Amino acid sequence: MTNSEQLENYLEERKKLVEQTLREAIPAEWAVPSKLREAAEYSLLAGGKRLRPIFVLAAAESVTGGEKPAAYALPFAAAVEMIHTYSLIHDDLPAMDNDDFRRGRPTNHKVYGEAMALLAGDGLLTHAFYTAAQAASRGVPADRTLAVISELARYAGFPGMVGGQAEDMMGEQGRTSLAQLESIHLHKTSDLIAFSLRAGGHAAGADERQLQALGLFGRNVGLAFQIQDDILDVTGDEAKLGKPVNSDQKQAKVTYPYLIGLSESRKRVALLTEEAKNAIADAGLADPMRLAAIADMIMSRDH
Ligand code: IPE
Ligand code: IPE
Ligand code: MG
Ligand code: MG
Ligand code: MG
Repeated sequence: MTNSEQLENYLEERKKLVEQTLREAIPAEWAVPSKLREAAEYSLLAGGKRLRPIFVLAAAESVTGGEKPAAYALPFAAAVEMIHTYSLIHDDLPAMDNDDFRRGRPTNHKVYGEAMALLAGDGLLTHAFYTAAQAASRGVPADRTLAVISELARYAGFPGMVGGQAEDMMGEQGRTSLAQLESIHLHKTSDLIAFSLRAGGHAAGADERQLQALGLFGRNVGLAFQIQDDILDVTGDEAKLGKPVNSDQKQAKVTYPYLIGLSESRKRVALLTEEAKNAIADAGLADPMRLAAIADMIMSRDH
């Protein structure tokens, strides 16, 4: 098997574990209005790359080494995917990016209406915290679980993803500077990715130095990931992306290609990927190589 086939197998296997967990995430015995459950699961189970939950597992495994999946970290993995999915449902609403297509299907509000889309997002956000708390009964010590839950609130919340989305909505072509755009991207996208890496680290008992390194890796990969997302909005293929292209232009968004052009944007993606790999190379992780391989794969992604 070549290295890239090995990586693909790895990603496929971890994705299966995550999707199994997501399918069972909202307890079948809970009385939930059927429309609401259907709307939430419509988006949650629609596929997607599952990058953030895979990073949770891969980070845990980078701390411990070995090939065994870090099943104890699955509650954190599912939690971050719920937050991410809710952020996408809300991001697509007419009041935000007004997009009609996501993960290869019509957006949530196109199918269920805006009220149910808002509530499906609210439900996923709330359920993420319930799900993360379950880690304590899957072998993650209670103090580590608690640390992850507070980090989730910070990285996803006011100073994190939500704050970044707010800054994104206030951005204006001709006014927003490159430094401001970097801050938008760091918060709306890097923060959840940095959280994912740290959550996996916590679950595996990482020390402070390892946590810092994982967080910095996540910051840089996350920024590269959002710049690549901006690039693909210009150059990508709708069928592969499962979402519309030229959405940013339509909404007059401030993006990296808008501010510095495609070729400079591509250079930044490459530079940030190198910086991400450097951050974990020498941090006392048992196996930093898999994370490094995922970072390289993200850099050249087309969806
Ligand atoms: C899309 O995230 C939103 C961004 C932060 C760029 P992904 O590209 O990870 O979307 P899915 O989860 O694969 O659908
Ligand atoms: C979204 O950024 C980041 C989120 C927190 C959802 P974009 O608005 O660029 O994401 P896409 O392109 O719609 O997936
Ligand atoms: Mg947006
Ligand atoms: Mg959008
Ligand atoms: Mg985008």
